[in-house]
Amino acid sequence: MNNFIYRNPTELIFGKGQLSKLAEKVEAYGRKILLVYGGGSIKRFGLYDKVMSILGEHGCQVAELAGVEPNPRLSTVQKGIELCRQQQIDWILAVGGGSVIDAAKAVAVGVPYDGDVWDFYTRKAAARDALPLGTILTLAATGSEMNRGSVITNWETKEKYGAGTTFPAFSILDPEHTYSVPRDQTVYGICDMLSHVFEQYFSHTPEIPLQTRIAEGIMLTVIENAERVLADPEDYDARANLMYCGTMALNGTLAMGVETDWATHSIEHAVSAVYDIPHGGGLSIIFPNWMKYVYRENVSRFKQFAERVWQVDPAGKSDEEVALEGIARTRAFFDRIGAPSRLQEYEIGDEQLDLMADKAVPYGPIGRFKQLKVDDVREILIQSL
Ligand code: NZQ
Ligand code: ZN
Repeated sequence: MNNFIYRNPTELIFGKGQLSKLAEKVEAYGRKILLVYGGGSIKRFGLYDKVMSILGEHGCQVAELAGVEPNPRLSTVQKGIELCRQQQIDWILAVGGGSVIDAAKAVAVGVPYDGDVWDFYTRKAAARDALPLGTILTLAATGSEMNRGSVITNWETKEKYGAGTTFPAFSILDPEHTYSVPRDQTVYGICDMLSHVFEQYFSHTPEIPLQTRIAEGIMLTVIENAERVLADPEDYDARANLMYCGTMALNGTLAMGVETDWATHSIEHAVSAVYDIPHGGGLSIIFPNWMKYVYRENVSRFKQFAERVWQVDPAGKSDEEVALEGIARTRAFFDRIGAPSRLQEYEIGDEQLDLMADKAVPYGPIGRFKQLKVDDVREILIQSL
């Protein structure tokens, strides 16, 4: 196991009816609030009114940054920073999925920073100060509710990059807030949280039995609950289990003492930057192809994955055959839940292949399970067309 330091300051407020805890947060953080949300789903399923009524009862002044895009854009973040400065906002409340939370994080660190907030995403500066941020999560997927990552798209330069920004001070997770998530977005969320586990599970770090079993526990729980949620979107326990898995998959737990990979995320972000496709959809296409490209680096890890996660019976098979069957079952699972398997499904051909490959490796080779150069990325993209 590698050395590590773990710190995660986000207060997780989980379960039915937990929205009521918002009131005490107003007392703690102040009454001038920027409310950040997306394209209107929170109005349609009634959460907006509930939040506004709690804030209204406590005498809050609320400015709004509405219309945050899926794959949130730098231009929207810049609007939010302006609003906060003009109205001397005390803290930010993000209500939505990962895109809304990521945009809110960018605004939170952008307000006290003199330069361009994009500097944080292009490694020109590191975020230090931030306005306090609270979140009310409405989609189980990214883990952004309990980590300091934020992924923003600069549509002008066709770049989508992540940065370490700020942890939410608190996040309210009521599984009932995810009942209205459409089927396709539920599927993308499932693909994304599984992919987060893959990025950290496929590692060469020796002697990490607990990290390995926690990762396998998350994968098995996601797989068990995925079909339940798709069959009945209002199955509380299945929604709750997925929501908890999404958070645990990317709140730092799995990375403790482990060398992690993240190449597939860089590749997907490059595809999303050029074609604006849903993140989880891109991952479901690219991940099995990454697996096929790299499994020979550590066949025994892939064999263990096949046996423990997909219950592949190794009898009479070579290690390589078992490993490949695990990868095939991963693909079959994505197919079963209706996730895309080819870039063509998003009308992506080979026209911008070189551009996407270049954008995926802006600072040199990516990934640690196998270091990928631009040619490797191009090959994985070709397999994904
Ligand atoms: O915009 P609204 O109207 O709210 O609709 C959203 C959006 O269209 C809808 N939605 C969300 N909650 C809903 C709902 N519809 C009905 N009922 C609800 N309860 O779902 C659509 C997608 O939302 P979005 O926030 O884009 O999805 P997700 O949570 O998957 O976030 C994706 C973004 O997060 C980034 C991705 O790259 C992408 O930009 N990521 C962030 C990470 C992080 N910060 O740690 C890590 C991830 O790997 C990922 O890269
Ligand atoms: Zn992801």
